[in-house]
Amino acid sequence: MLYRMRRLRQSENLRQLRREVRLNIEDFVYPLFVVPGKNIKREIPSLKDQFHHSIDMLIYEIESISNLGIKYIMLFGIPESKDDIGSGSFIEDGIVQRAVKKIKEINPEIVVITDVCMCEYTSHGHCGILNQNGLIDNDKTISYLSKIALSHAESGADIVCPSDMSDNRVYHIRKTLDANGYINVPIMAHSTKFASGFYEPFRDACDSAPSHGDRKNYQMDFHNSREAIIEGEHDLIEGADILIVKPALAYLDIVKSYRDNFNLPIATYNVSGEYQMLVKAVENNILSENIYYETLIAMKRAGADIIITYFSKYAAEKIKSKIW
Ligand code: PBG
Repeated sequence: MLYRMRRLRQSENLRQLRREVRLNIEDFVYPLFVVPGKNIKREIPSLKDQFHHSIDMLIYEIESISNLGIKYIMLFGIPESKDDIGSGSFIEDGIVQRAVKKIKEINPEIVVITDVCMCEYTSHGHCGILNQNGLIDNDKTISYLSKIALSHAESGADIVCPSDMSDNRVYHIRKTLDANGYINVPIMAHSTKFASGFYEPFRDACDSAPSHGDRKNYQMDFHNSREAIIEGEHDLIEGADILIVKPALAYLDIVKSYRDNFNLPIATYNVSGEYQMLVKAVENNILSENIYYETLIAMKRAGADIIITYFSKYAAEKIKSKIW
């Protein structure tokens, strides 16, 4: 009889020695939402314990993030006004551009990753420029995305993160950044972003739901996994530095195959619906808080090097107090 690993005799210390993955503070990227106005720190109704911050209030948030040891943030902006080309996304004094400058002033050590997309800024809520038929014009869109990425780099962003799914945008952004001297600003690309129902709370948070149609003709069909590899290959060849799989939980098979197929760092975005689903289950005493740990570990086990998550502050507290 073979008693494998003698689990019954193991102490907690022994179990810890044998662990294949662990959570570190460096695994986490914390999404942050910036809004126009003054003196605003307002809970986002669809995302418990997550807040909209006005730029003047960032000082408190960045301090709290830094005290927890979080090093990486992903910045989303909600603009003052919208139009059909999403001008608010690339103007010099846009919400994200001002926020990046402010954060860098408060704490230059924090690595600021900016979301490069148009859906929060366009009046129609789609992630690009539309043609007469109401569909995304891919080539026009990528030239705008490059403008956005460049304006972020000019404001001091450390990493730009295109979250649309337009073809050739990584190449176009890379070329634009390089031509303007930003050769050291990496691109973290949403290589596989599925047309998922798990984004719904985020669309409320960012007021970015499409006013007509859906995102199925530019985000990926969730029936496919081999296609996800093709998307990753494109981004790698075009010059991406980090590949993102999004969402995370229902897509860990894709995270795993990215891990096996690509030698770039792999990130996964543990999106709003996944967060809210667990938080609500805990709030209603259906599950206990341990599931946060269990699911984050699942992402690491699947092969994620980086986890973008609304749980980052929670995780940082646990890691800091050596509970995790
Ligand atoms: C698009 C964008 C979305 C998310 C991040 N960037 C939404 C979408 O594609 O509709 C979703 C993130 C989340 O759900 O937490 N700019």
